[in-house]
Amino acid sequence: MPTILPLESQDFDRLFEIEQAAHSVPWSLGTLKNNQGERYHNLKLIEDDNIVGFAVCQTVLDEATLFNIAIDPQFQGRSFGYLLLHTLIEQLQQKGIATLWLEVRESNQKARRLYERLGFNEVDIRKNYYPTPDGKRENAVVMALYLAEPTFTS
Ligand SMILES: CC(C)(COP(=O)(O)OP(=O)(O)OC[C@H]1O[C@@H](n2cnc3c(N)ncnc32)[C@H](O)[C@@H]1OP(=O)(O)O)[C@@H](O)C(=O)NCCC(=O)NCCS
Repeated sequence: MPTILPLESQDFDRLFEIEQAAHSVPWSLGTLKNNQGERYHNLKLIEDDNIVGFAVCQTVLDEATLFNIAIDPQFQGRSFGYLLLHTLIEQLQQKGIATLWLEVRESNQKARRLYERLGFNEVDIRKNYYPTPDGKRENAVVMALYLAEPTFTS
């Protein structure tokens, strides 16, 4: 059974490995390190003493934004992404957060299905928002989950 704990500063080298393996256009190590601190609610998922996934989430007043979620590709498809995001949502609800926002590449069907399973709704499209590995641009889908009332089941 995996364990989910707050991210710590010594985790960042391992997070960067996962980031590079999981994303087509990964964050730099500097960007990963900059996205932590008081305003963040960041979590890691540990399986057999090894970090295999993480979530980076910023909170401002009663709103939160999921900036990043990634599972090591070798561990994808084992419900770890679902468990990590489900746990984050429960913890945000306990903190009194009203809405969780995120943006996802239009082509990222796997992530979009995960978000839909957890009750997120599509609220907007940002045209040509993300760079692609081949130098083009891709739309972002903006999604929101309203946390005031439970919208998903365990
Ligand atoms: C998107 C990502 C985080 C998903 O993590 P994952 O561990 O591979 O996904 P899971 O195994 O938890 O979920 C896979 C499927 O099971 C479903 N699922 C898993 N556990 C579930 C549960 N207990 N109840 C209901 N549905 C569940 C998910 O909705 C999803 O459905 P699908 O089969 O229709 O795709 C992962 O693929 C990843 O890191 N991708 C690269 C980075 C990325 O794209 N991040 C998101 C954008 S920032």
